[in-house]
Amino acid sequence: MPAPQRAAPATKPSATTYVSIVGFYVLYALGGGYMVATQPSGGWQQPFSWHPLLMTIGMVAFMGIGAMTKKLGGYDNTKLHAIFSWSGIFCTLGGLYAIYTNKEQMGRPHLTSWHSWIGIAAAVNALCLGLVGSIVLHPDFGVDKTNKTIRFAHKTGARLVLALAWGAAFVGLYKMTQEPTMLILYGAPLVIFAPFTLI
Ligand code: HEM
Repeated sequence: MPAPQRAAPATKPSATTYVSIVGFYVLYALGGGYMVATQPSGGWQQPFSWHPLLMTIGMVAFMGIGAMTKKLGGYDNTKLHAIFSWSGIFCTLGGLYAIYTNKEQMGRPHLTSWHSWIGIAAAVNALCLGLVGSIVLHPDFGVDKTNKTIRFAHKTGARLVLALAWGAAFVGLYKMTQEPTMLILYGAPLVIFAPFTLI
């Protein structure tokens, strides 16, 4: 008698969808990230430009690819999900350090805008979700890896955090430029990624 098959998760992407979206994320991180990093002057500004570039690579590309990889399911993909997500967290910390340093150099106060409040909330929560994922849900040594409530909270919380972070990224760009082409080029891919990654 054939072994019973477990149904694939409803949102599991096909191999073609996964590879296409990951490729699109990589192009977006490098192209879109550099584009926003050089606003509004068109040139690289040290250390400011590291902030939008690393935030786009970290919060959009690495974390987005991490979320897509988890949807593939299985032991190896869960570990890859952790590696991508932590890479995203480290880029995020680098991006925050860049903007912190930039403000210190300019003698400006910290955390004074909606962008910064939403952004810091998303970053702190991303770090907490990463810690919970690694300590509690890790497939090898997670202390409560089969706990359905924590798994659900991790998944739902992470989707919310990514949505907030992407919103903050768009608002961050809007502070730098209101040029419609720039806003569409940066914002439209986020809208396209969202249903594949966050639902
Ligand atoms: C997920 C993406 C992002 C997050 C989580 C984020 C987070 C933050 C945070 C926490 C601050 C405050 C730093 C401080 O007060 O010391 C900040 C400042 C800033 N960010 Fe972002 N950022 C993101 C993306 C972007 C992007 C894409 C741009 C522009 C293209 C940008 C432009 C700025 C600017 C101009 C400031 C200084 C003004 C302010 O504090 O609002 N950010 N960001």
